[in-house]
Amino acid sequence: MSAPIIRVEELTVSLNTDDHQRNIIDSISFDMFPKEIMGLVGESGSGKTMTALSIMQLLPKTIKICGGSIWYEDKDLLKMTSREIRTIRGNKIAMIFQNPRMALNPLMRVGDQIARAVCLHCEVSSEKSKSMAVELMSQVGIPDAESRARSYPHQLSGGMAQRVLIAMMLACKPKLLIADEPTTGLDVTIQAQIFKLIKEIQSEIGVAVLLITHDFGVVSEVCDRVGVMYAGQIMEISSVIDVFTNPKHPYTQRLLKSILRVDRKSDLDTNKALSPISAVFDSPGCRFASQCDCVRPECLWERPKIYTDSPGHSVYCFNYSRDNK
Ligand SMILES: Nc1ncnc2c1ncn2[C@@H]1O[C@H](COP(=O)(O)OP(=O)(O)OP(=O)(O)O)[C@@H](O)[C@H]1O
Ligand SMILES: [Mg+2]
Repeated sequence: MSAPIIRVEELTVSLNTDDHQRNIIDSISFDMFPKEIMGLVGESGSGKTMTALSIMQLLPKTIKICGGSIWYEDKDLLKMTSREIRTIRGNKIAMIFQNPRMALNPLMRVGDQIARAVCLHCEVSSEKSKSMAVELMSQVGIPDAESRARSYPHQLSGGMAQRVLIAMMLACKPKLLIADEPTTGLDVTIQAQIFKLIKEIQSEIGVAVLLITHDFGVVSEVCDRVGVMYAGQIMEISSVIDVFTNPKHPYTQRLLKSILRVDRKSDLDTNKALSPISAVFDSPGCRFASQCDCVRPECLWERPKIYTDSPGHSVYCFNYSRDNK
């Protein structure tokens, strides 16, 4: 197997208020390999966006990384200067967000915005960058790209605006694309088209994709591997096939059951009872322990060690550690 493109090691991220420090990400580790699509699933508040923003180093001011490393190839992003980070961000790692219009400049024609991204990454004349922008827009499936290039963001639908952002991302030729719920708010047909586009781009330009979603259905259709998060901890990481056929962590098992129960509604938040309550963030052990049917005394005070079920399938749960067998 090739070397990971990104390696997150024991990343801990805390939210600091006047009277409290809470680890909203609690020592998570995962690798991503070139050209793979890895899903990160979890309910609202489980820390998916904060994981992505830690990689991008775009965390809000009150939230700080307080431990761990994020290796990009052989460099720790957390030890880089802000100038070095800026070179990685956009060039090597790009991110698309839930609300594409917020990420675009409302006062600039979208073609010019893409052309500007082209100029930042390729040494071409301004005339050439404009024609390349139109080509990129056609490549991401924007019909009548030449005239659409003259539109302002508010003149585009949400789906088209997301395609414009994907075209900008293509201009940067990144090695890793982070897509944080890129289809929220779009209707189902457009969602499917955007995921199809992401998959096509991944196979054509060989970019690795970290796809953040609530939706296990999307994971099954789009991803190669998946990490399951709960209240800032990773519970299980596995191939998509293994997670559906052989889920190990009691939380993953319960999630999958809840998806079947709600009959085709795969949004994790449909099962509110599973949502992390704020008290669990202060637990020194497994944050799912208070809701777990298989809880052991040690789950409440000790962080479970990693258990590897098979190559590529890891679970953080005392029920599988050797001593408990
Ligand atoms: N700007 C912020 N200031 C303070 N706390 C925040 C902020 N953004 C998120 N949090 C807290 O950080 C934790 C992780 O949030 P995060 O946004 O990463 O969750 P998420 O898994 O992306 O959820 P969602 O699915 O709703 O997008 C939550 O407890 C949340 O309340
Ligand atoms: Mg989020």
